[in-house]
Amino acid sequence: MKNTMRVTASLCIGLVVATLLAGCRAGGDSPGLEYAPNMYHSVAYEPYTQITNLDAGRWLTSIEYEDGHAEFYNSNNLNPFKMNMRMPPANTVSRNKLGLLPYRLHKDSLESASKLVSPYEGSVDAILADGKALYTMYCTHCHGAKGEGDGKVATGVTVDGVERSMYAGVANLKGDAYKDITEGYIFHVITVGKGLMAPHGSQISQEDRWKISHYVKALQK
Ligand code: HEC
Repeated sequence: MKNTMRVTASLCIGLVVATLLAGCRAGGDSPGLEYAPNMYHSVAYEPYTQITNLDAGRWLTSIEYEDGHAEFYNSNNLNPFKMNMRMPPANTVSRNKLGLLPYRLHKDSLESASKLVSPYEGSVDAILADGKALYTMYCTHCHGAKGEGDGKVATGVTVDGVERSMYAGVANLKGDAYKDITEGYIFHVITVGKGLMAPHGSQISQEDRWKISHYVKALQK
């Protein structure tokens, strides 16, 4: 009697475990039961993936859209390769909002860079104001508010009575050596760096780099 009960109990537990595991099984296009799918899939469109299962997330949410799909269905049937992203037309290069192409001049091409013309040529006060704000954000700590190479990082701090410069050799942009540099030159230096100065191309947009260059020229006057 005791034995039969034990066997029945084990069988029951086995059955429950098997049922639970079967519910998790993934295969084909089905990822199986996903606990909290919003941790894996965004409701928003993702560039590389689409969720084609009309029922995705239905068990989790009461949201249902007009065409009958559940919240996590985010497919775009018109696009090839089950991707939301679309390929750019062949042999084209994307331009940004200002119509600028990606910047490709080599680090050593300072001479060519000097001849570049700013898209903000003959620009208005607003550009200068933007340039000032951006310069304050990205350059002042080294080059100083007036461009004299006396920013906090360049002059350093006094520790136990000893002056320590954190970043040596910062250029005084008002010095004679720099009075004739062009906006294109400054743009180039900001983008790819020069000598001890690190490149800032990845953290400042092209538009903003031109605005800063414009401001630096004004600062030098
Ligand atoms: C971390 C400190 C630092 C920051 C931030 C910095 N610079 Fe510099 N910059 C330097 C140093 C150091 C040099 C001197 C480079 C050399 O001669 O080796 C320099 C040189 C320059 C030069 C002269 C290049 C030449 O021909 O010798 C220009 C122009 C310039 N910086 C512009 C800028 C502008 C504009 C910004 C803001 C976007 C900026 N820098 C941010 C440290 C900095």
